[in-house]
Amino acid sequence: MTRARVLERPGAPLADAELHLPEPTGDQVRVRLLASGVCHSDLHAADGEWTVPLPLVLGHEGAGVVEAVGPQVRDVRPGDRVVLSWYAPCRRCAQCAAGRAWLCTGTHALEHPAVAGVHAYLGLGTFAEAALVPESAAIPIDPAVPAAVAALIGCAVATGVGAVTNTADVRPGESAIVVGCGGVGQAIVLGLALAGAHPIVAVDLSPERREQALALGATEALEAPEGQYDHAFEAIGRAETIEQLPGLIARGGQAVLVGMPAEGVTVRLDPFDLADQGKRLLGCNYGSTVPSVDFPRLARLYLAGRLPLDRLVGRRRGLDGADAGLQDLRDAVGLRTVLEIADA
Ligand SMILES: NC(=O)c1ccc[n+]([C@@H]2O[C@H](COP(=O)([O-])OP(=O)(O)OC[C@H]3O[C@@H](n4cnc5c(N)ncnc54)[C@H](O)[C@@H]3O)[C@@H](O)[C@H]2O)c1
Ligand SMILES: [Zn+2]
Ligand SMILES: [Zn+2]
Repeated sequence: MTRARVLERPGAPLADAELHLPEPTGDQVRVRLLASGVCHSDLHAADGEWTVPLPLVLGHEGAGVVEAVGPQVRDVRPGDRVVLSWYAPCRRCAQCAAGRAWLCTGTHALEHPAVAGVHAYLGLGTFAEAALVPESAAIPIDPAVPAAVAALIGCAVATGVGAVTNTADVRPGESAIVVGCGGVGQAIVLGLALAGAHPIVAVDLSPERREQALALGATEALEAPEGQYDHAFEAIGRAETIEQLPGLIARGGQAVLVGMPAEGVTVRLDPFDLADQGKRLLGCNYGSTVPSVDFPRLARLYLAGRLPLDRLVGRRRGLDGADAGLQDLRDAVGLRTVLEIADA
């Protein structure tokens, strides 16, 4: 039996459930979870800002150990340390064939497939002792990476560092501003430091978050955005801050939309300014990441001391601390809360 924290009703505390995960069939992999981060995309679902099927095991930023594999699985075997991808690519559609796994049209992740009658968020459901996932969602990485760091590679780091290096393709010496420095925004700051951006301006309402961003490589921290930059990143998902983006980018600059708003939110933009100044707005899903390429690459940079991902880990809680982890996000306190689910 597998213990899991389950969303039964938006706004309600998570319920404790015991699931029976079947033996993997076909290309399925059963992963014993070691750690899961708590991401604002879990909170969007928990608070009813996004429609999800219920009941639902929350959590999509996880790492663990392969426990069992189905007969068609080729790339992982029991005992492998893996980071889970929340957008398991089909590896067959035109986007996958073109190397754009983050745009896969054949993924089942957005259906939140059910296992044992309970849906798993984005096909993962990492607020649990184990998960049954497709092979393409389980990416082997070096077991020398601590589980908490490996978990964050699965969402905040892939998204934040990928937004910089893949989506925006930031060059050394280009200027950048990051609006919103939670788990994803702090990973953007680390990515900008890695890419050699300068200056790196971090914006957050929270003084604690501004201090953390300065410690991670921001050169300046502000309570409200100002100035014009080559690159602007929005990592909150609020209409007010998204509407500020065109004004924050210089002629020919670009803004990357990383934050995801509640369903139905619309924004007002000045199209004349965008056209006249040749400014670009880029949507960013999952840091334009190909998990099987990018997760091991991020792990190598961490192990080489080039990307201090351990400094993104905030409060550590057990699986029972999932509700408290969601509250940490509402309160915008600490760095990324990680649920430590089991020892390797
Ligand atoms: N594009 C993707 O693929 C992708 C992946 C992961 C997360 N996300 C989204 O990114 C967003 C951020 O996720 P997170 O986990 O980092 O969230 P978080 O809650 O950890 O961070 C949000 C930060 O924004 C700050 N903030 C809120 N309102 C502000 C304002 N008006 N001005 C300045 N700062 C403000 C908060 O203080 C907090 O530090 C969420 O919408 C999440 O769903 C997108
Ligand atoms: Zn996430
Ligand atoms: Zn595909």
